[in-house]
Amino acid sequence: MQAIILVGGEGTRLRPLTTTTPKPLLPIVEVAFLERQLDWLASYGIKDVVLSLGYLPDAFVAHFPNNRFGDINLRYVVEPSPLGTAGAIRFAVDELGIQQRCVVCNGDVLTSLNLAEMENFHVEHKADATISLTWVDDPSAFGVVDTSSDGRVVEFIEKPKREQASTQWINSGTYILEPAAFSAIPAGVPVSIERETFPTLLAAAAPLYALATKGYWLDIGTPEKYRQAHFDVLEGVMGKPPVMGAQEVELCCWQNGSVSVDPTAKVSPPSFLGAEVGISARVVIDGSTIGTKSSLGPDTQVVRSVLHDQVTVGTSVNISDSIIGSGAIIGDGASVIDDSIIGAGAKIAPGATMKGARLAPGSRAD
Ligand code: GDD
Ligand code: MG
Repeated sequence: MQAIILVGGEGTRLRPLTTTTPKPLLPIVEVAFLERQLDWLASYGIKDVVLSLGYLPDAFVAHFPNNRFGDINLRYVVEPSPLGTAGAIRFAVDELGIQQRCVVCNGDVLTSLNLAEMENFHVEHKADATISLTWVDDPSAFGVVDTSSDGRVVEFIEKPKREQASTQWINSGTYILEPAAFSAIPAGVPVSIERETFPTLLAAAAPLYALATKGYWLDIGTPEKYRQAHFDVLEGVMGKPPVMGAQEVELCCWQNGSVSVDPTAKVSPPSFLGAEVGISARVVIDGSTIGTKSSLGPDTQVVRSVLHDQVTVGTSVNISDSIIGSGAIIGDGASVIDDSIIGAGAKIAPGATMKGARLAPGSRAD
């Protein structure tokens, strides 16, 4: 099989991180999310991946020199304007002349889904399209998929009201599609696979199947879920170290390369210290990722947060439940709390309080 990954979305819920970096290239513990997804596809022998681009396409091309990732050959298609999740597939298929079965993935789903099992199911059922399903507590933010006992889809409703959801099994954003499914998508116009193509296939009684899957699954598309992905990766949900070569210095506390940690500092799991990180006296790090070359001044506390690389944090700073972009500078005595997101290179003045804030890249808060 070859793969198409949908990575054209603007990642609006993760702004201002996604103002400068497209969502699939945001790091999850120092490794771009998309690399984790490509690793997963490679583990099923997939060697040909098409990236369906729209938003900030140059960032992807720059990220993968020679259009390679390990054994994977990458090809790119760039939509002139957003064509939606199905329009993007049709565009890619037409541009590249694809006439074979494809696995299609949303570009923001971290999963340990068994793709080989899914393909077997798809082939056995002679499906035109197979959707993988995962079970969630609240299905209202997802595509809700009801099936008969043999796995045939009987209903697909995108983002219903909670009380209207007939099941908690949702579309987990990985599909196997045959060329017959591509033909069901009109060319040259925006089309949503969730709101249009799947309902159209259903109405035509086409063989549309879904497979309930177990294993790890997370859509990283909201700030809370993006932070959650860090905890999960540090706790080993993907079955390997968070970064190749990183050392587990105590259970679920990782270091990558040389770090400088004052003996009075306390680091609690699940946490990660990137290479050349500097941690001063009496710092408390709890459930947090500190990116490469970041430094934390004395008496600072970082709880349930993610700091990208080269973040400079002063003395007696309080950071909790927040995300700090690359190269940001946080002044002495500042607080960054309650789901704040600080854009890359932004500066927070000493003593300032950022509570649930969104600070644009390169800007300054007093
Ligand atoms: N190329 C391209 N063009 N890609 C797009 C476009 C587009 O116009 N619009 C969205 N995408 C990509 C996004 O980049 C993302 O990787 C993927 O399509 C899904 O878009 P999201 O914006 O993340 O959708 P969602 O999370 O609200 O819902 C989708 O995912 C859920 C599972 O996480 C739906 O597929 C739901 O049915 C599903 O349950
Ligand atoms: Mg999503």
